[in-house]
Amino acid sequence: MSHVWPIGGGKGGSGKSFLTCSLGMILAKEGYQTLLVDLDLGAANLHTITGVPHPPMSLSDFIRKKCERLSEAIIETPTSNLFLISGAMNTLDIANLAHEQKLKIIRHIAKLPFDYILLDLGAGTSFNTIDFFMTSPSGIFVTTPEPTAIENIYRLIRSVYFRKIRQTLDGQAFRNLAREAEERNRHATVTNPDLLLQVIRELDPEKGIILEKELRVFEFKLMVNQHRKQDNPNIGKVICRIIEKHLNLKMHFLGNVGFDDRVHNAVCKTTPFIDLYPYTQTALDLRECCRQLLSARDRPRESARLVWNESS
Ligand SMILES: Nc1ncnc2c1ncn2[C@@H]1O[C@H](COP(=O)(O)OP(=O)(O)O)[C@@H](O)[C@H]1O
Ligand SMILES: [Mg+2]
Repeated sequence: MSHVWPIGGGKGGSGKSFLTCSLGMILAKEGYQTLLVDLDLGAANLHTITGVPHPPMSLSDFIRKKCERLSEAIIETPTSNLFLISGAMNTLDIANLAHEQKLKIIRHIAKLPFDYILLDLGAGTSFNTIDFFMTSPSGIFVTTPEPTAIENIYRLIRSVYFRKIRQTLDGQAFRNLAREAEERNRHATVTNPDLLLQVIRELDPEKGIILEKELRVFEFKLMVNQHRKQDNPNIGKVICRIIEKHLNLKMHFLGNVGFDDRVHNAVCKTTPFIDLYPYTQTALDLRECCRQLLSARDRPRESARLVWNESS
C-alpha cells in the first residue's frame, strides 16, 4: 500500500504546491515511485510547477467518468519516477465535491501502486481540504513565518481536530456535548477542544477512550517555508509546542525552507527549482526536510494505512 502524505496550509501562497513538487522530485530522484495529486480543486496549478504545461488528462476525467479507473488519469512528468494526477481541467463544480465523490477519490488513491503519494491541497478550512487532510495520520502543514499564516495553520489544525470529534459522535451527541461544555464554563465554547474532550470523557467514558485513541494516531508534520534570515529559527518548534499543548496532538517539525528569489525564476521557466538550483541553501533545506520525513515514516507509530472513517 502507498504511503500518503497530504500537504496543506491555512493560507494561499505559503508554498504548498512548491513543496509538494520539490519533495516529490527528491523522492523520485532517490528511486521511489512517486505520485503527486493536485487536489487544490478550483485553483490547480501543480502541473505547471512540475513541468507539464498541458496535461492530457486530469482528475475531472475520473470524476466525470470519462475514464473508469483513476490510474488512467496518471500522467508522466519530465522527471523519471515522478507521476502526476493533474487538476488542470477541473471546473467549478469539481471544486465542490459531494461527500461520496470524495470518498471515491480517497479510496481509489489509496489503491494506486506507488511508494509515496503526495496530495497538494487547497488553502483554508473547507470540508474538502479537511477531509483530504484526514486521509492520512501524517499530514504535512505548511506555513510561512508570518503571524497571519501561523494563525491560519492553528485554525486548520483545530478544524481537523473538531472534524474528528464530530465523526466519532453523532449529531445529537455532539450538540449535547457542546451544551454541557458551555454550561460548565461560561467562557468556553465549542472552540475549546480541550474542554470538549474532558466533557466527552466524563459523559461517555467509552467514546472518550475511542476518541483519544483516534486522535493519538495523528502525528502531523510542520514545515516553515519562505524562512528569511531575520526570522526566528525556532518558530516551527514553538508552533508545534503550542499545538501539542492546546490540542493534545502530536506534531513533528520537519524544518525551515529558506526564501529564495530564484523560486520565482524556476516557476516562470516551468522547470522545477531543485533541478535548476540544486546546490542552493533552499535546495539543501528541502532535502533535509525530506530526510526527516522519511525517517519519521520508518517509525512504527506512523503506519501507511489510511485513517479515513467511512461511516463519517
Ligand atoms: N521558499 C520559497 N522562496 C521564495 N518563493 C517561494 C518559496 N516557496 C514558494 N514561493 C513562491 O510563493 C508563491 C506561492 O507558492 P505556491 O507553492 O503556489 O503556494 P500555494 O500552493 O500554497 O498557494 C509562488 O510564486 C512561489 O514562487
Ligand atoms: Mg497551490
